[in-house]
Amino acid sequence: MKIIPTQTKDDMASAAAEIFAEQISTKPDSVLGLATGETPRELYKSLIEKHDAGDLDFSKISSFNLDEYVGLPKDHDQSYNWYMRDALFNHVNIADDNWHVPDGTATDLEAEGRAYDERIKEYGGVDLQLLGIGVNGHIAFNEPDSSFPLGTHPVDLTPSTIEVNSQYFATPEEMPTKALTMGIGSIFNADRIVLIASGPSKADILYDAFFGPVTPKIPASILQMHKDVTLIADEEALRVIREKGAL
Ligand code: PGA
Repeated sequence: MKIIPTQTKDDMASAAAEIFAEQISTKPDSVLGLATGETPRELYKSLIEKHDAGDLDFSKISSFNLDEYVGLPKDHDQSYNWYMRDALFNHVNIADDNWHVPDGTATDLEAEGRAYDERIKEYGGVDLQLLGIGVNGHIAFNEPDSSFPLGTHPVDLTPSTIEVNSQYFATPEEMPTKALTMGIGSIFNADRIVLIASGPSKADILYDAFFGPVTPKIPASILQMHKDVTLIADEEALRVIREKGAL
């Protein structure tokens, strides 16, 4: 694992944007794995700026998002489908057929999950996967569990995730309690993974995930076994890793 420490959240976003921009320039038909949440917003802004400056062409890029809430239609402003259009896709020249977000309104969620994994395979697999991390160690919506789930599948969200994410909904009751998420296996198949983290709330879990035992109780800990993982984090998020002398 490689760690890129940055002073601020903005620096974290710039460092991650450089890696994505290089991937897109070097392999214009890259398959990107994309993430939602607060952490990647500035990264997407930076990619849009590079696109506007004529430096990045998304015309042959395809992408697969990690997850979606169950039951939220695509036009709900808290759906991840909406988030991605708002944060990136509406502002770059990615082809409409080439970006994918799991369908959380599918009647058969298990079948939608299997079809999603098949589609990723048809596109040749993910070249570069972006991840955030939850305060409970989740990656995508793979919550702490007794085993590592493999494929894209429906999950019950934990109280911790519901508490953190319900702030974005008009009322906490609107927050879905289920999601459809890529599994650890789907994520692990990516050639290269970049995990971004910022702020003090991530400091404990980053240490546990990257320097503690590999356990499904901390889903992100499996990343210790991946061949090409880069952690980009600001100093607030790296505090415990620094204090324990791991960096
Ligand atoms: P955040 O979410 O970027 O909003 O902190 C990260 C995650 O839950 O994976």
